[in-house]
Amino acid sequence: MIFDEFSIKTLIRPVNDFPKPGVVFRDITPLFQSPRALRMVIDSLIQRYVEADFSHVGAMDARGFLIGSIIAYELNKPLVLFRKQGKLPADVISQAYQTEYGEAFLEVHADSLCEGDSVLIVDDLIATGGTLLAAVQLVKRMGAGIHEAAAIIDLPELGGSRRLQDMGIPTYSLTAFS
Ligand code: PRP
Ligand code: ADE
Repeated sequence: MIFDEFSIKTLIRPVNDFPKPGVVFRDITPLFQSPRALRMVIDSLIQRYVEADFSHVGAMDARGFLIGSIIAYELNKPLVLFRKQGKLPADVISQAYQTEYGEAFLEVHADSLCEGDSVLIVDDLIATGGTLLAAVQLVKRMGAGIHEAAAIIDLPELGGSRRLQDMGIPTYSLTAFS
């Protein structure tokens, strides 16, 4: 199936002033309600990464889980969950971060990666980059490396993809909204 960016974009709904005044929330639920659009998104990510040399998929809580788990399944890679504070049951390492509309801690199980592992980190959207940058820090603290940061949507005006690239993290998104 050919990737049709226009039809993907029409299935990402802008919601003004959610969750805070001034934020235009990019809602992916219509995209996930379209089997054709979801297949297009996943197929293009699979096509990009099927030959790539990395060991793990890392998915961001919670919307990143939606695509991360499918990619891990399709590429037969182990899936590492990066979760918001207090959700993971065993020993964790923790990293503070800020997003477009809040601040939080991101956590991962301390034994989930080793030196030499290479992680494709995935999320639905890059805004300030706070979430993915926190994941980068956690991956590095375990001695592992980043293959690439991937998302469906980039919001370049919020500077996240630039911040990731400035940190030396290759960054890829399927579409962007300015
Ligand atoms: C959203 C989105 C990304 C993050 C992007 O998650 O799914 O994870 O914000 O923003 P950033 O680039 O500024 O970090 P959110 O924290 O709203 O959580 P959710 O997935 O549980 O809705
Ligand atoms: N996460 C951070 N900023 C966002 C936005 N504008 N829309 C959807 N998710 C987001």
